Amino acid sequence: MTALDYFLVNPGQPLRGTTTVPGDKSISHRGVLFGALADGETHIRDWLPAGDTEASLRAVQTLGVPVERHSKTELTIGGGGLKPPRGVLDLVNAGTGIRLLAGIMVGQPFESVLDGSEQLRRRPMNRIINPLQQMGAKIEGSNGRAPLHIQPAQLRGIRYAMPVASAQVKSAVLLAGLFAEGVTTVVQPGPARDHTERMLAAMGVDIVTEGDEIILMPNGGLKAMDFVVPGDISSAAFVIVAALLVPGSDLTLTNIDLNETRTGILDVLLEMGADLIVTETGTQAGEPVGTIRVRHSALKGSQVGGEVVVRMIDEFPIFMVAALAAEGETVVRDAQELRVKETDRLAVMTAELTKLGAQITETEDGFVIRGSQRLRGAEVYGHDDHRISMALTVAGLTAEGQTRVIDAECAADSFPGYADTLAKLGADVRQLELSKAN
Ligand code: S3P
Repeated sequence: MTALDYFLVNPGQPLRGTTTVPGDKSISHRGVLFGALADGETHIRDWLPAGDTEASLRAVQTLGVPVERHSKTELTIGGGGLKPPRGVLDLVNAGTGIRLLAGIMVGQPFESVLDGSEQLRRRPMNRIINPLQQMGAKIEGSNGRAPLHIQPAQLRGIRYAMPVASAQVKSAVLLAGLFAEGVTTVVQPGPARDHTERMLAAMGVDIVTEGDEIILMPNGGLKAMDFVVPGDISSAAFVIVAALLVPGSDLTLTNIDLNETRTGILDVLLEMGADLIVTETGTQAGEPVGTIRVRHSALKGSQVGGEVVVRMIDEFPIFMVAALAAEGETVVRDAQELRVKETDRLAVMTAELTKLGAQITETEDGFVIRGSQRLRGAEVYGHDDHRISMALTVAGLTAEGQTRVIDAECAADSFPGYADTLAKLGADVRQLELSKAN
């Protein structure tokens, strides 16, 4: 039997103290991928050493880019261009890795194959294949999924109106635009995270945002830069909701990225009555950063839909846990994108939380939860989806009795040391090996 780790969770202990969380996943992917294209050495500190980002790092190494690893979180990426890969580029579970790298590879003068895990092979790729083909790219999927086969081609800039507000799609098109003739414009239907725009601009690319349009003009290369990655608000969200729900909690998170395309979860929790004090302290890697103080709070239900959904798209698994505790009804709409993440997060979270005694009405594009629910500890399963495992762990902290979340190691796809971070704040959470427990 393959050993699967699990989180063993006992409820009731308040979370107190001060901590930060690992570096932002989106910015860490981009630092490595864009650094590989730059004209010199890019030095990155507080980089996220997680399953997904390590896959992007290995991919650029396979493309002949020298990488100096000073520590787990500090890297120097030697730029100077990409070389034909000595094999398939394996992005494992990383949707951001494969979609952004595809945008880069279509502009290279050599062929490549991009692939990943069984889980990644289930995720839709036509959303990038279609616009890249419109730019003249020679990219083929397998029934619209990975593996992606790419041949060299001359690209031309296009004006692309994205049907979904996706930062990965936007980034793939803009990155291909770096290698295209003429201007590339992406029109976004909602405020998808803008880390690509910020980082490319900081590296000297001619890119501007005007309303819902992003306009990129290829101007001959990226300049190397040094930066420090801020803490990931998507990781902070698990700690924040844990502190809000467990009585007696009072903690402070430092150095968190407060980019407003990412802070939808804070806006919604504040509206629900959360005792959150958000203080901006400066900028890092071109992003606003700050501290978040969180105290246990009685939450009220909320109506969530429209623009805020894309600004909190990765936070819905943990938001479901908050909604179960809130008083009154919470309704989420316009969140159908959750069905094509690492898992169908609407279906999987509904099924797993039901094992803890929750009552949730799943809808096509969201869910309805009547709150003030008491959960009972049980055995639940993470489905190789980091955010599912971590959200279920927080649910366990609010339940009566013990919870085991089978499949804990996937949490390290975005939040290495998750159980330790919670435990240091006082929560009774441990990551254990299943085979040893039996
Ligand atoms: C990401 C974009 C989002 C998000 C993912 C990271 C990025 O996906 O869910 O975790 O770094 O660009 P979509 O762009 O597909 O919505």
